[in-house]
Amino acid sequence: MNVFIRTDSWVLASHNPGKIKELEALLAPRGLTVLGAGALGLPEPEETENSFSGNARLKAEAAAHASGRVSLADDSGLSVDALGGAPGVYSARWAGPDKDFTAAMERVRRELEAKGAKDFGARFVCVLALAHPDGETRLYEGEVRGTLSFPPRGEHGFGYDPVFVPEGHELTFAQMDAAAKRAMSHRARAFAAMTADVFGA
Ligand code: IMP
Repeated sequence: MNVFIRTDSWVLASHNPGKIKELEALLAPRGLTVLGAGALGLPEPEETENSFSGNARLKAEAAAHASGRVSLADDSGLSVDALGGAPGVYSARWAGPDKDFTAAMERVRRELEAKGAKDFGARFVCVLALAHPDGETRLYEGEVRGTLSFPPRGEHGFGYDPVFVPEGHELTFAQMDAAAKRAMSHRARAFAAMTADVFGA
């Protein structure tokens, strides 16, 4: 049995309730108890790297070190083609200290308008880092391509979901229920790569 599943619980190294909810649902069938970093009183490290993989690694390793347990972190964000990949690793920060995603989505719309952009192509990217307290860390990446659509639509999900229409669909992620988003999201794809590696399927 590999070192990551020779344990009965994992720490989810995130303070983002939207991500914790999605990761909990993805991990539920694996018979692992999941502990949120906030519930364990772990601090939220500053994201000082300029890549998704760098920040995912930093968060997972900080939680594994502080808790002595296997820890899973997600770093993710929205990359807009016409904005050179922005907001990218700054996706959460565009919402400011109040985590106001209505304002963040409006900033994306304004910046596209200011550029006279005709192409509203974008992708959500997710890198998962799985860190063992003894030192090994593995990384897994997933993405979903789509198009941005304004004004925001839908009540489900979190973050930029109300403006993101995945390729081949007409509804935004926020108009889909959790299961429909889970069938195609960047997080679910990174998760599938992780489970294939760790659980063998
Ligand atoms: P971080 O990974 O904690 O830096 O935050 C990533 C940010 O990207 C989130 O706060 C959201 O704004 C955005 N994001 C990541 N995944 C999703 C998603 O599935 N839907 C909508 N927004 C997302």
